[in-house]
Amino acid sequence: MPETIFASTWAFGELAVRTAWAWWDSEPDLERAAVAGTAAIEIDPTIPTVGRGGLPNRAGVMELDAAFMRGSDLCSGAVAALRRTLPAIDVAYKVALLTDHLLLAGQGADDFALAHGFTPQNLLTEQTRAQFADWRAKVQRGETDADRMVGHDTVGLLGWHHLAGGGTAGETVACVATSGLGYKRPGRVGDSPIVGAGLYADDHAGAVVCTGVGEEILRFALAARTVDAMARGLTPDEAGTEVMHAMIRRKPETAAMGISLLAVRADGEVGAATTRTANHVFEYHVCADGRYTRAVPEPVGAAG
Ligand code: GLY
Repeated sequence: MPETIFASTWAFGELAVRTAWAWWDSEPDLERAAVAGTAAIEIDPTIPTVGRGGLPNRAGVMELDAAFMRGSDLCSGAVAALRRTLPAIDVAYKVALLTDHLLLAGQGADDFALAHGFTPQNLLTEQTRAQFADWRAKVQRGETDADRMVGHDTVGLLGWHHLAGGGTAGETVACVATSGLGYKRPGRVGDSPIVGAGLYADDHAGAVVCTGVGEEILRFALAARTVDAMARGLTPDEAGTEVMHAMIRRKPETAAMGISLLAVRADGEVGAATTRTANHVFEYHVCADGRYTRAVPEPVGAAG
């Protein structure tokens, strides 16, 4: 069994786990490594679905959500609708370390970030400004519906480290960050900054991060339910699949919405589950003691 594992969502997850591992290699601090890996995706303007390169809300303003959770003591911190600073995961981590709160939103989140040394900036790039202008013109011409959901992704990153003298047990951390749905209503917050929905970490069972349509992930509390299923002894794959089946049974249309979760069990086993989507195949990346692998889980069907 490896000593240290990082796992992350989507194709950009490779950069996330490589960054986390490089951090760990020079300074073995699991949570700082996980935060650094997540931030690497947020600040990269060439990634068009998350953070710097992501799409703004329908008023043309970027609103970022992010959260951090540590499985040893359930310490967590999150920000929602952060408008002026980036990486949002760094601000969320500071909320976890420096406050008694779990979630700061809107102006309060921005004020907190500025008070803690973050530089205020306009989070739009030339490209996202142009994309927004194009979208708004299409809405005005009636060529697209402002309420039509526009794609986005979430970087979710899990860290696990074997506890010395702990048998197979390990410590876990979970990080998530997103710019949320493209052209969302101002103030719309998805699952990512909500403990139990977009992420959960408890060293007694494992840790989970989610990506996909935030409204459904929130509705079904996917991360908490998957951690609970692992606590009952299921593997990450089994736990994720069980929870996805329960969601699809209750709301069949979620089977085609491309909702995904990535999980690490307390003993370091990694797995994932995803529902089907027409054009976006879910993949995840793992770094185990410096060895890199990519996996593409088979979508969960309606059966079960
Ligand atoms: N899953 C991220 C969001 O819906 O905002």
